[in-house]
Amino acid sequence: MDNSYKIAIIGGTGKVGRHIVSRAIENGYQVRMLVRNPERLTLRDDRIEIVEGDIRNTETIRILIKDCQIVINTFGQPLKEQPIYSSVTENILEIMEDFQIDRYIGVTGGSLTIDGDRKSIINRVGAKMFELFFSNMMADKKKEWHILNNKKFIQWTLIRLPFIVESKEIGLVKENLTDMPGTKITNSDIATFIINQIRNLRYVHKAPFISN
Ligand SMILES: NC(=O)c1ccc[n+]([C@@H]2O[C@H](COP(=O)([O-])OP(=O)(O)OC[C@H]3O[C@@H](n4cnc5c(N)ncnc54)[C@H](OP(=O)(O)O)[C@@H]3O)[C@@H](O)[C@H]2O)c1
Repeated sequence: MDNSYKIAIIGGTGKVGRHIVSRAIENGYQVRMLVRNPERLTLRDDRIEIVEGDIRNTETIRILIKDCQIVINTFGQPLKEQPIYSSVTENILEIMEDFQIDRYIGVTGGSLTIDGDRKSIINRVGAKMFELFFSNMMADKKKEWHILNNKKFIQWTLIRLPFIVESKEIGLVKENLTDMPGTKITNSDIATFIINQIRNLRYVHKAPFISN
């Protein structure tokens, strides 16, 4: 891949996504970012294009990702809302297929359990609690996982995250394909890890856990 590529970013004003835009720019990429509320933007730069709109609008997704080579999705919503993760991801992937864009990097929670996981007892109990207390969200996140699995044309990676802390980069990220290796991670470390995944195809069609 080439650093002149343009990255479409969804959720770039959120807790997870906040540092991704600046890390992309530092690495020489162009960015097109979906923003609902421009006043939430913390960084302005000639290399950042803004698309104002809502991810629920498929025409907005088309405008956002057209001519991009990579899509990074860190969309999030309050726990009390009816979850739309799966439909958002499905719409993005379908439009990516239309435009022949083939690299997608998304995030989800560490409580998502998939075939092949070997979670510790503590993490299994934690996942069960999430399934119990946030059953709608967890069912929707599972649906998102199945949608991704049926999209083999796209080189997707779904990163499973623990609790996010707003802090400076630590620089040490633990990675594991079958269990969460820690309890938290800084959003700066997530940003660096995600931008590195553009060139590193090790986790294509996989859902790694990461933590500090
Ligand atoms: N926070 C954590 O500790 C944590 C832990 C594990 C996994 N995760 C996962 O990480 C992801 C992001 O979580 P987060 O904590 O970063 O969420 P967040 O801080 O609430 O950020 C959500 C982002 O999505 C955008 N967004 C929400 N609804 C939108 C819409 N209708 N159209 C366009 N953009 C919209 C928000 O834009 P606005 O700025 O306009 O609101 C914001 O940029 C979720 O999948 C979550 O499950 C989070």
